Amino acid sequence: MNASSEPACGVATMRWLGGALELIDQRYLPQRFAYIRCSNALEVAEAIRAMVVRGAPAIGCAAAFGMALEAARQAGTSRVAFDEGLEKGFSVLGASRPTAVNLFWALQRMRECWQASRSEEPPRIAALLAERALALYHADIATNLAIGRAGAALIEEGDSVMTHCNAGALATAGHGTALGVIRSARDQGKRLRVIANETRPFLQGARLTAWEMVQENIPVTLITDNMAGHLMFQGKVHKIIVGADRIAANGDAANKIGSYALAVLARYHRIPFYVAAPLSSIDLAIAEGSGIVIEERAASEVTGYGELRWAPEGVAVENPAFDITPAGLISGLITEKGVTLKPTTASIAGLFRS
Ligand code: MRU
Repeated sequence: MNASSEPACGVATMRWLGGALELIDQRYLPQRFAYIRCSNALEVAEAIRAMVVRGAPAIGCAAAFGMALEAARQAGTSRVAFDEGLEKGFSVLGASRPTAVNLFWALQRMRECWQASRSEEPPRIAALLAERALALYHADIATNLAIGRAGAALIEEGDSVMTHCNAGALATAGHGTALGVIRSARDQGKRLRVIANETRPFLQGARLTAWEMVQENIPVTLITDNMAGHLMFQGKVHKIIVGADRIAANGDAANKIGSYALAVLARYHRIPFYVAAPLSSIDLAIAEGSGIVIEERAASEVTGYGELRWAPEGVAVENPAFDITPAGLISGLITEKGVTLKPTTASIAGLFRS
């Protein structure tokens, strides 16, 4: 079975070819649509670090395939070399980006598979790891379809739904989380419009969300991030749906920088603010959002874009890639288990029991 043999759930962010993983190089969308090929854990880790592939669930799936590739590469070596190679793979992938918990979640699933198959010979272990990675990939699509179905019930005919960053097919194995809700609502025949925030500094909204929506003829309006409050004030935003990179046990949610400001604005304007994410984005080991590591990215992303620089040399820069939205500002958490209104530690714990 091939990862690209899935039903249409938006664009195929990654393609599993057995001996290689192909990733859309998201750094150059929408100007250039091209896949790059990775054939070991180091190459996948570098693709994650460099933002070739980004978005919490997509990072997790890519890392799982990265381990499968590494196992296949080491399968012909001695048992000791195989084990060492796999440990190195886990460590290089685990160090690629710090905030999205799906990365660590997927690596843990792969480690469990490895541990359960230790009595087998390396070629068999490599085959089992490839099967496991593919299963995680297919499970992510199924999860996103369930998130989409649950969230679509919240969308009303004619809604304008604001989203931030890209939590679409490009950020997952397919369909998306926040954009999965939009896709599912559209598939149910609801007429709606997406308001895509540009999402400075990496422009995931302008480049990726806008592109995904245009591809599928879903009406989309692009705004710069600082226009969001004005549109809310004008009554042009009916709902806000974002994704998440890591959700603490109490419901505090880390997502793309700027999400917190939107949640504060939403509360003032009485606009529902939803977080759409799989259970694999919930980190029960972290009690509250302040415990989540926020990635700090290069100053060059703020002082300019690509080759262009507009800020003076010598200026100090902060570039946190994510912020924390306190659970108290979240109207509902949309997961594959349904919609959890006003999430709390107790209701989140319940999602793992049901
Ligand atoms: O830095 P990125 O592009 O990886 O950040 C992505 C986000 O913040 C997404 O909203 C989040 O990962 C959810 S993707 C379904």
